[in-house]
Amino acid sequence: MGTLEHMSLQEHIDLIKKLKIKIEKARKELKGSPANYLWQLSLCENLKELIEVHNYKYYELDDPSITDSEYDKLFLELQELEQRHPELLKPDSPTQSVGSPPLERFSKIAHQPPMLSLNNAFKSADVKAFDRRMSEKLGVDRIEYEVEPKFDGLAVSLLYKNGIFETGATRGDGYLGEDVTANLRTINSIPHKLQAGSHSKHSPILLEVRGEVLMLKEDFKKLNQQQSKNNAKAFVNQRNAAAGSLRQLNPSITVNRNLTFFAYSIGRYEKAEEILYYTSSDMLEYLSSQGFHIVEERKVVRGSAALLSYYQEMMELREHLPYDIDGVVYKVNSLAQQEKLGYISRAPRFAIAHKFPAQEVVTELLGIDVQVGRTGVLTPVAKLKPVYVGGATITQATLHNEVEVNRKKLRIGERVIVRRAGDVIPEVVRMEKEYVGSVKQFTMPEECPVCGAKVERTLNEVAVRCSGGLLCPAQKKQSIIHFASRRAMDIEGLGEKLVDQLVDTDSVKTPADLYSLEEEKLISLPRMGKKSVKNLLASLEDSKNPILARFIYALGIPNVGEITARELARYFGSFSRLEKADVGTLQKIPDVGLVVAQNIANFFAEKHNRDVIDKLLYNIKPKENEGAPKIQDDDSENRINGKTFVLTGTLSNLSREDAKEKIKNLGGKVTGSISKKTNYLVAGNAPGSKYDKAVGLGVAVIYEAELLKLLHQ
Ligand code: IVH
Repeated sequence: MGTLEHMSLQEHIDLIKKLKIKIEKARKELKGSPANYLWQLSLCENLKELIEVHNYKYYELDDPSITDSEYDKLFLELQELEQRHPELLKPDSPTQSVGSPPLERFSKIAHQPPMLSLNNAFKSADVKAFDRRMSEKLGVDRIEYEVEPKFDGLAVSLLYKNGIFETGATRGDGYLGEDVTANLRTINSIPHKLQAGSHSKHSPILLEVRGEVLMLKEDFKKLNQQQSKNNAKAFVNQRNAAAGSLRQLNPSITVNRNLTFFAYSIGRYEKAEEILYYTSSDMLEYLSSQGFHIVEERKVVRGSAALLSYYQEMMELREHLPYDIDGVVYKVNSLAQQEKLGYISRAPRFAIAHKFPAQEVVTELLGIDVQVGRTGVLTPVAKLKPVYVGGATITQATLHNEVEVNRKKLRIGERVIVRRAGDVIPEVVRMEKEYVGSVKQFTMPEECPVCGAKVERTLNEVAVRCSGGLLCPAQKKQSIIHFASRRAMDIEGLGEKLVDQLVDTDSVKTPADLYSLEEEKLISLPRMGKKSVKNLLASLEDSKNPILARFIYALGIPNVGEITARELARYFGSFSRLEKADVGTLQKIPDVGLVVAQNIANFFAEKHNRDVIDKLLYNIKPKENEGAPKIQDDDSENRINGKTFVLTGTLSNLSREDAKEKIKNLGGKVTGSISKKTNYLVAGNAPGSKYDKAVGLGVAVIYEAELLKLLHQ
């Protein structure tokens, strides 16, 4: 496939088209006469070539043109064909190799042992068959497995000699990888030196750590915002962003990209002492003791039923995780059993990846609408032929803004790729077929499509706004929907349809009016039964004593998302202190710059907002944050003495043991579980359920940097 790199992007597209036609033809012929060798051969060769082109686009250009699940389908088709007709199987088949050869521009590093791939399971039956195979080969029932999320990043190997990071490489083709040491050095979660800690006094002579480099969802979002500002192409997903950032000749690019490393196994290990682990799970603990991040959501379970319930659990957790995953990995836990099971060509026999269903699908673009949001911003929205993706059927997806619509060269009536990740708003990624010609430009309307007010454009903003303010019914509705939403006041039973009715009948004009709704009024509305009215009134009643941060978030102050709301609650402790704060004080809060501070101050100064807030506070009493630390520059008292801390997630700069010891030395207490008495939850990377519990109880959450500040006071 040496010629792929000399071809233009358009030539790749043409080649893909040609191969798809040939594959279709062969599939059709084989339906009529499945035993025809020539058609079998044609299908096999063309599938191989198509997979190679997609491999090239994915691994080398970091710019795939099909979804992962479409790729998996092609791969599976080839694998099954080769299994049915072993005479077709040749060593050059992509089913026999891993990834793709390293790029010329990097020097090479050999992997010993090779870095293999994993076999995939897509259905429960595949998992049961895997478990049965393991039991049969080992002669043991209810095998113990170590299970963990399958990261959607890129595999790397890190070599430590006498405890010092020496070299690091990508997986490449599994045997030869690209030397990306300089780039890996810029990643904070890759220790430059191992920690000879609680597990051992001496560093190993040689330790080769394997794991995944990835970009956290939050960093990915920021990067794409940056790309959009610079008019650069957006990255398709976290994996491509991570790969594109790591496989750079210039480490100063990598350093600005915020990558994260999670360790999941050990390649080579030459010990200075006795062996310290006999299972995969202990191996992870050992890696953690040496200063690596390991995934918190790992587990040890027995038998196939437990594997499947872990899969379900992770599927539900997926959207809440700070990183992207595309499935889970099951590994036989005992290393002795792993050795007994061994390997088959490109993958170990003792492990399998159970992939999640696609979150990217293809559907038809029916049209483009313009919607008006809570702050009046006009957003182009794609109307789609209903399609099931990521656990829900969607009929529309955001197109972000005018610039994005035109960049994607959207053509109504044709097929688009749509992505949905958990409860994130679905978006149109691109047209299924790349198009080189010009298409009709999309332009935003001059008037608000809901209230007809003039539309305003700010010079330095891509956003276009309706100037109707809260007189615009769309803005009114959206601000009420936001106020009642799950992450804000969590008023159950107040869905979009009901808000439409309430606003359209003038029963509710602002969120404050919700609290004066009466039973008779509600019952008179179409589709409102006695029971739903009762439930709605009960949830309104229940919402009257919210956590301060939620109330602040619910107000919909421009630029104040959940995190900023939490910071504001933490700093001011009470609503009355917040609403009186001036721009200077507001800027003391982490992440609040001049613009956000001005937005907040203006919001509270505005007459309409003041009226709504006063009316709201008549019914609502937000909880005050007694224990909240006030971050003040001149706060010099020892803020650890007598305080109770709980730790969650992985810390980057110190081990948990060290953190505990340092807190204790300063008179603090570290406990294992959160209660109302906890003063601080220290959240490291990938925090666990303790984090949610802390937020729920209103316990102050601090991050590693703040802990370090407290420790070094
Ligand atoms: S273990 C011998 N664990 O999946 C087993 N791999 O398709 C080696 N991956 O190249 C792999 N998350 O890049 C393992 N928790 C995890 C993983 C994981 C992602 C990747 C890895 C590997 C690929 C195989």
